[in-house]
Amino acid sequence: MGVVEGLLALALVLNVVVVSNGGKSSLFVRKTKKTCDMPLDSDVFSVPPGYNAPQQVHITQGDLVGRGMIVSWVTTDEPGSSAVRYWSEKKGKKKKNGKKKTAEGKMVTYRFFNYSSGFIHHTTIKNLEVSVLLGGDLGQSFDSNITLSHYGLSPRKGETVLFVGDLFYADNYPNHDNVRWDTWGRFTERSVAYQPWIWTVGNHEIDFAPEIGETVPFKPFSHRYHVPYEASQSTSPLWYSIKRASAHIIVLSSYSAHGKGMPQYKWLEEELPKVNRSETPWLIVLMHSPWYNSYNNHYMEGETMRVVYEAWFLKYKVDVVFAGHVHAYERSERVSNIAYNVINGLCTPVKDQSAPVYITIGDAGNYGVIDTNMTEPQPEYSAFREDSFGHAIFDIKNRTHAYYSWNRNQDGVAMEADYVWFFNRYWYPVDDSTVYV
Ligand SMILES: *[C@@H]1O[C@H](CO)[C@@H](O)[C@H](O)[C@H]1NC(C)=O
Ligand SMILES: *[C@@H]1O[C@H](CO)[C@@H](O)[C@H](O)[C@H]1NC(C)=O
Ligand SMILES: *[C@@H]1O[C@H](CO)[C@@H](O)[C@H](O)[C@H]1NC(C)=O
Ligand SMILES: *[C@@H]1O[C@H](CO)[C@@H](O)[C@H](O)[C@H]1NC(C)=O
Ligand SMILES: *[C@@H]1O[C@H](CO)[C@@H](O)[C@H](O)[C@H]1NC(C)=O
Repeated sequence: MGVVEGLLALALVLNVVVVSNGGKSSLFVRKTKKTCDMPLDSDVFSVPPGYNAPQQVHITQGDLVGRGMIVSWVTTDEPGSSAVRYWSEKKGKKKKNGKKKTAEGKMVTYRFFNYSSGFIHHTTIKNLEVSVLLGGDLGQSFDSNITLSHYGLSPRKGETVLFVGDLFYADNYPNHDNVRWDTWGRFTERSVAYQPWIWTVGNHEIDFAPEIGETVPFKPFSHRYHVPYEASQSTSPLWYSIKRASAHIIVLSSYSAHGKGMPQYKWLEEELPKVNRSETPWLIVLMHSPWYNSYNNHYMEGETMRVVYEAWFLKYKVDVVFAGHVHAYERSERVSNIAYNVINGLCTPVKDQSAPVYITIGDAGNYGVIDTNMTEPQPEYSAFREDSFGHAIFDIKNRTHAYYSWNRNQDGVAMEADYVWFFNRYWYPVDDSTVYV
């Protein structure tokens, strides 16, 4: 089962020593061990005991500002209730918990070829006090088999996971065997039941399979993973925005039309001017297919979107763009290629301090094939690249500074293999290049 293709956490706290880093192709040599999907009877896929026990519990932010949470789960014996009981946890001397409340949701099912899903429940809890949301911890077990375990291990925890697409690869199985969606749901539950994951779709969620009569793109994904798209006036769950901590996070769909006049284009055109940098100093964009990628695999696949939206990203001073797709890691300098207009010959990305940093973090690790084939020589805009597996933490300190680190976990321990200070493009737009000066 292909795990987390790029796991990224947004953290709020913590101080770490600064060391500046130079641009390079890392020489780190991974131990290459051929891995394959865990079998269906693996321990991490086990079905919880008990009649109609909820499984595959996952949460994501349920509104624009973070006072809502969508809680989802699956029951298999009978539909059961879609109600969630919740209360606020009081801290301090008087440990009495708050009044219990109940939120009602809805239940959906779907069929995919000859697979019938369980009863999938989605319930939105509103008006939460942000500081007391559902609590929980990722667990500290010394798992090393998966990115998730490694993230669980890391002493530095994010408060939200930004997920840049390709949940896993059910579509590699005959008939896109959707049983693998269930196993993935049970497998990731230990993280996603306790902290919200922000979902971005990848190509492996398209599940377009006319050969077996399945012609509705994103069908399994959209039944299982709900997002609060309407809260940001989007008309599709595939692109939307949320505000989380001091960041405004925009999620785009590389696999939906994005040309001029299309719904996603119109939405983004209206969304960007709404970003209030006083309220949310940081502007982050998530997408699946990277715009700047110097690996041979998926090279230039993000161009169709880059040519349409790049100028907006500069105008609105996006701080950072995270993408997946390429099964490796890369961080760019701040560059733009907006001068290129097909006939003028200016087709080299140039240093541009109003541009975002582009980070590719689709390093699937244990379960996928790592992309090792890099374009040579390494382009100037590429600050750091390494064909290893890992997760990153974007740690917002205040409105001017964020500390970013990518943690390689091929060695089984959290290794901070790439790290850099980000200076906010709106509040502190000083040059934060690491090599390309
Ligand atoms: C679905 O069809 C495949 C291939 O024909 C078969 O192997 C599998 O057992 C079927 N599954 C169900 C749930 O009927
Ligand atoms: C995953 O790793 C954990 C910790 O090493 C272990 O308990 C578990 O059995 C592993 N599962 C599989 C299927 O490899
Ligand atoms: C931006 O947010 C600040 C702080 O909440 C507020 O005072 C200001 O009016 C907002 N600006 C706009 C244009 O809404
Ligand atoms: C790397 O990619 C290039 C361009 O696609 C290709 O020509 C070359 O054969 C690849 N090298 C390997 C070792 O696969
Ligand atoms: C913001 O955080 C950075 C890094 O921790 C620190 O050096 C800087 O002084 C902080 N700025 C303000 C205004 O607190």
